[in-house]
Amino acid sequence: MSVSFCGLELAHPIINGSGTFDAIAARRAFGAGLLHGFPFAAYVSKTITLEPREGNPPPRLWEAAAGMINSIGLPNKGLHGYLREDLPQLAEIAAGVAEQLGNAPPLITNVMGASATEIVRLLAACDEREEIAALELNVSCPNVKTGLDIGADPRQLEDVVRAVRPSTRKPLIVKLTPNTADVALCAQAAEAGGADAVSLINTLRATALAPGWEGEERRPWLGGGTGGLSGPAIRAVALAQVAAVAQRVSIPVIGMGGVRSASDARDLMDVGACLVAVGTESFRDPAAGARIASELAS
Ligand SMILES: Cc1cc2nc3c(=O)[nH]c(=O)nc-3n(C[C@H](O)[C@H](O)[C@H](O)COP(=O)(O)O)c2cc1C
Repeated sequence: MSVSFCGLELAHPIINGSGTFDAIAARRAFGAGLLHGFPFAAYVSKTITLEPREGNPPPRLWEAAAGMINSIGLPNKGLHGYLREDLPQLAEIAAGVAEQLGNAPPLITNVMGASATEIVRLLAACDEREEIAALELNVSCPNVKTGLDIGADPRQLEDVVRAVRPSTRKPLIVKLTPNTADVALCAQAAEAGGADAVSLINTLRATALAPGWEGEERRPWLGGGTGGLSGPAIRAVALAQVAAVAQRVSIPVIGMGGVRSASDARDLMDVGACLVAVGTESFRDPAAGARIASELAS
């Protein structure tokens, strides 16, 4: 079950999707139990930005027929808050897991910036921290100048990845956006720019309307207006996009999107994913990662 990924040795192929499992909150809730049964072979942080962000106004979640739309808006402490407060706690959790299970889950820090300059500052600061094993770059961010998502335009994506790549010696995973015309072209652009791996899919842009009363204008339910759809509702899209990307790049592919079981994970691996991330399912079952890894093993 062990997997080599960009020079890292993982005990099994199941990791978490960024922003869907807070290891620090989980340790508060589950105590030592989390260390005995840590669900993931590597731990991915939620997205960290240069400056702190409060996130979007409520409501932030809408339950879809088979998943949810979130409009969390990437609240986080900002780079320095993360490095000072969260990273030491995450490293302590990883060391505790190693004591219990024999392997420390490598820490992957997910970052997002609105320009190459911002991303360089994020990657360079993370590069100095030995607790971080690899970086994941979330490119679902509007460019400060054009307003278009950096990851949606292959040419812009390649330029940004090429410009930021030298600022870290650690493996760089580019987390692609599914909200683009040709995700495989974007994956090729990330590879050409110097990415060591790509991960997909992020959430699909979506919205929901609040109930309308007689004579009233219908409004979006979510405080942020639109959000991202995740969970089983997007699994077939994820399978198609992971398959298309895996056929067109030679770097490793991390697949995710609606995975609830070993059979879902197996589907993504059979079309070319070397690791599989579990996201929304962890909200229903925080131990889902461990369950899926052990089902895969048997
Ligand atoms: C509540 C929530 C928060 C998320 N936050 C982030 C984030 O901070 N950064 C990121 O790159 N992806 C984020 N994602 C996307 C997930 O990592 C994953 O790509 C997506 O949800 C698809 O997987 P799933 O269907 O298993 O949830 C978030 C998803 C959800 C549901």
